[in-house]
Amino acid sequence: MVSNTEFKYDLGVVGLGYVGLPLAVEAATSSLKVLGFDINSERVEMINNGHSPIEDISNEELSQSHKNFHSTIESKELSQCRNIVISVPTPLTDYQPDLSYVINAAKTVGENLVKNQVVILESTTYPGTTVEVLIPNLEKMSGLKAGEDFFVGYSPERIDPGNEVWKFKNTPKVISGINNVSTEKIQSFYESIIDETVLVKGTKEAEMVKLLENTYRHVNIALINELAMLCKMLDIDIWEVVNAAKTKPFGFESFKPGPGVGGHCIPVDPEYLSFKTRQIGKPVRFVELAQEINNSMPLYVVNQVNEILNKNKIILNSSKILLMGVAYKKDISDMRESPAIDIAELLLDKEVDISYYDPYVEEFKVSGHIIDREVDTNSFEDYDMLLVLTPHSKFSQLEFNNLKTIIFDTTGSDFIKSTERI
Ligand SMILES: NC(=O)c1ccc[n+]([C@@H]2O[C@H](COP(=O)([O-])OP(=O)(O)OC[C@H]3O[C@@H](n4cnc5c(N)ncnc54)[C@H](O)[C@@H]3O)[C@@H](O)[C@H]2O)c1
Repeated sequence: MVSNTEFKYDLGVVGLGYVGLPLAVEAATSSLKVLGFDINSERVEMINNGHSPIEDISNEELSQSHKNFHSTIESKELSQCRNIVISVPTPLTDYQPDLSYVINAAKTVGENLVKNQVVILESTTYPGTTVEVLIPNLEKMSGLKAGEDFFVGYSPERIDPGNEVWKFKNTPKVISGINNVSTEKIQSFYESIIDETVLVKGTKEAEMVKLLENTYRHVNIALINELAMLCKMLDIDIWEVVNAAKTKPFGFESFKPGPGVGGHCIPVDPEYLSFKTRQIGKPVRFVELAQEINNSMPLYVVNQVNEILNKNKIILNSSKILLMGVAYKKDISDMRESPAIDIAELLLDKEVDISYYDPYVEEFKVSGHIIDREVDTNSFEDYDMLLVLTPHSKFSQLEFNNLKTIIFDTTGSDFIKSTERI
């Protein structure tokens, strides 16, 4: 254990992904000295060479931050950081929360921990993780005492990849600490890089904030997906209904139906909540129902595809379908948990000839098959159907109007003149 009050870096970021990298770049741009630490040496090399691995940070922004930002795979350098933020993945493995990345990161930080450092967890997780998992690992590896020798807190990340309005700096940040000193230090750190902080009374509450935000989205998406399926049976245009309902200026937030939920957050985070409540013997009934409905959407879409082709006298297993947009959300390349994967699997099972068109995704692999990538926008008419799964903004530059091909838009985008909608 080393004692160190003169730190070379104001901030160390552990995990340079969709969450960690924007934080590191924002802090460096705000003149803080920043160290990035990641176990992925290729990623570290890319970042140090000014090549951004994520769409939200341009190569120019990354290069401009280099005066104050250096990345490494050498964990020893973490002892030189006044504040350390951990932003490593928290996925599901076998449908269970997998905290192995957080535990490994905590051990690495713990091995290099010195007195007076501040450690903040930003990974999304179940309430209790900071106190029950992070702190014991930090204390065990360092021999130091949390709250006395070093300071700890939790702050959920609200980054929304691809969002041009709400970025890291102007999105209010919820913060918490395990005691007053920790909270004060954490607040003063975030206030140096973010416009507004929102203090909550403890780490459990801060951890729960993130789960509430994403469970709320998950449940409301499920509600609108269920209504979309029912409206189809009742011959009611769900889009007409949603668009009219959202003109109500109070008491209603609009959600759109779609082919399913994807990404690292919406399908995953409610599982973290259920995991925690099962410990007290209680299910979160809303979450279970929402999961059932949202998980059924890929099959619903494939059944709709079959019906639409049938209507047009085309047989599903001899059809050619182009999947338009396979990333889990628009304007990014992230494929994690994308419903396009399930839909492609179901179509492959039915021996449909599928290709994909996605300006952001270079390779689309499904159950070991590499799906053909269409790059020629003049060949759209070679397909029986364009199946829109993710409405990338770049699609608005494509000419859909005079196409004879069936366009089935599962996303309700306003710039695609579809023949069919979910
Ligand atoms: N992506 C989002 O939109 C988003 C939004 C809010 C919150 N979150 C949460 O933030 C956390 C991180 O997500 P992400 O999307 O940035 O993940 P990511 O996969 O994009 O990046 C994680 C990075 O952590 C690195 N890493 C893994 N183990 C490590 C270790 N032991 N030490 C150092 N680096 C390590 C990986 O190599 C990777 O570069 C997750 O808990 C996620 O749920 C993500």
